Amino acid sequence: MGERSDQPKKEVKEFEPPEDFAANATVNDPDIYRRAEEDPEGFWEENAKELKWYREWDRVLKWEPPHSEWFIGGKINACYNCLDTNLEKRADKTALIWEAENGEIRKYTYKELLDEVCRFANVLKDSGIKKGDIVTIYLPMIPEVIIAMLACARIGAPHSVVFAAFSGDSLATRIGNANSRVLVTCDGYSRRGKVVEQKNKVDDGIKSCGIIEKVIVVRHHGNDISMKEGRDVWWHEVMKDSDISCEPEIMDSEDMLFLMYTSGTTGKPKGIVHATGGYMVATYTTTKFVFDLNEDDIYWCTADCGWITGHSYIVYGPLANGATLVTYEGAPDYPDKDRYWDIIERHKVTILYTAPTAIRTFMKWGSSWPEMHDISTLRLIGSVGEPINPGAWLWYHENIGLGKCPVVDTWWQTETGMIMISPLPGVTTTKPGSATMPMPGIKAAVLDEKGNETAPGEDGYLAILNPWPSMVRTVFGNEERFIETYWSKWDYKTYFAGDGAKRDDDGYFWIIGRVDDVIKVSGHRIGSAEFESIMVSHPSVAEAGVVGKEDELKGEVIYCYVTLRSGTEESDDLKRELRSYAEKNIGPFARPKLIIFSDDLPKTRSGKIMRRVLKSIANNKDPGDLTTLQDPDVVEVLKERTRTLESA
Ligand code: PRX
Repeated sequence: MGERSDQPKKEVKEFEPPEDFAANATVNDPDIYRRAEEDPEGFWEENAKELKWYREWDRVLKWEPPHSEWFIGGKINACYNCLDTNLEKRADKTALIWEAENGEIRKYTYKELLDEVCRFANVLKDSGIKKGDIVTIYLPMIPEVIIAMLACARIGAPHSVVFAAFSGDSLATRIGNANSRVLVTCDGYSRRGKVVEQKNKVDDGIKSCGIIEKVIVVRHHGNDISMKEGRDVWWHEVMKDSDISCEPEIMDSEDMLFLMYTSGTTGKPKGIVHATGGYMVATYTTTKFVFDLNEDDIYWCTADCGWITGHSYIVYGPLANGATLVTYEGAPDYPDKDRYWDIIERHKVTILYTAPTAIRTFMKWGSSWPEMHDISTLRLIGSVGEPINPGAWLWYHENIGLGKCPVVDTWWQTETGMIMISPLPGVTTTKPGSATMPMPGIKAAVLDEKGNETAPGEDGYLAILNPWPSMVRTVFGNEERFIETYWSKWDYKTYFAGDGAKRDDDGYFWIIGRVDDVIKVSGHRIGSAEFESIMVSHPSVAEAGVVGKEDELKGEVIYCYVTLRSGTEESDDLKRELRSYAEKNIGPFARPKLIIFSDDLPKTRSGKIMRRVLKSIANNKDPGDLTTLQDPDVVEVLKERTRTLESA
């Protein structure tokens, strides 16, 4: 298990919740933990009652490990709880402030957002979409991504949002797995001033998948594209005459709200299934408690709707709380490195939720950039996606939080749906680098291989001991993989998160990072096996081993060890080609940092590549026991090659 050198220290600095913050916080009584622990079902039920249900549940929880059902018999609609429920008090309140990379700003009130959502819901219905049909959305961070998601939720069609930077092939794999007939995309979008040809990626990607019957295309960038007769339609044209009223579909609490593909340990991404009622209760409640939303807050989560953070903490949680959201389409350094601070100043953002990679990048750019702007409106700042090192935490607190904002370091996953370990900003004393304690109602632990709790300071595996409302229900179409991945490690009722962790003497949780073959590059989750299977599909590659190497800025970067087919010459041109190949087939965020050619890879006698050994070589660590290797000498060769390339 990897250990980051800067965690946890003996003498850690601690920060009490600021007094004035605590005095006005949504939660400032630590008794909430005791109440939730004594009666978790009662705790969730109490919060569920704040949402609007068509029919209340007969029973809060059915737990037949590893399967859970929540709010059984309850009938609800997620979109209704994000929009319609706000109409009475907030019809004219701004729901969304969207800013494009080129500076264009669009705003929607709750009423306007509802109208757009209903119109698009009717477009989907006219396209033959019915309750239960999965719609794939492949859009950048533009208002239409939120509108499309909510429109799906309104008519009971689960959405599968695919991160816009994924390649056309990755899109096609996900469409194929979900058996999605309708795709929502756009012509193109801008990234650092350059156009990304989104529709071209679609055309290439779905050429051979043959499932898509209709592509709805948002005209966003204005770049030239081709529209396929009978398949492709323009968003603005189909929306023009669409009706603005659409009754929400009455959904069973356990009906699927959405699918979210994520990388795991095998070659194929897995579709994480989230159910409607429990997910809404969980995201609504955790948004309220962790982000302490007040009526006049301006909330900015910098995530993308292509990942779970965008689902839970841009769309469903904040809108169900009636928040005003800020979203931004572009890069943080466009046109200059102060773009985020400029956005915060102009829109008077009060809550910022971003990622450690971004924070470390800002730190590298220096505090003069935020100092150019008045960001004193901020009152709470958060972090998500990877471990945040104490140095970055302290910089964030000092330079962005101006020493006065509580920092919430929130640990969770695509599979958990909601924030699981995090400070409550009005209650918890924080320690830089620690996600602190499980949320009320959550029982977490650090366990050893046998399932026993580790002693304070000792490494182990992060585990969740009790069910929670937004837990993954299954892996779409692959129940076996669901059980194997998350439940088979110990006793089929303890959730294995795939993360290493330790607790300190106060019981605080310190997350170390993934212990499985999942690599986190700038918070993006990439599976080693998925990556390797793409690399070996290149005609020059015989074998590939792909691992993460710790990186100060990105958390991890990708090192790709490659054996070429016989007769293929090693060359810098081929390295460049392989990098582009990875980029084209997965996405630009997956560009390997190093390609290391080798005649052989560390393998077991049965021929299995040992990633554990490659990982220790990449990270300059002791590879441990090598007696099971076919040829232990290969390790020295690879070490030398890696170090030589690093210093080149
Ligand atoms: O390794 C943990 C890391 O991100 C993983 C989950 O990735 P994903 O499903 O893409 O969801 C990311 C957004 C919730 C976890 O297994 N991770 C997430 N948050 C933290 C974290 N690691 C340490 N500290 C965090 N706050």
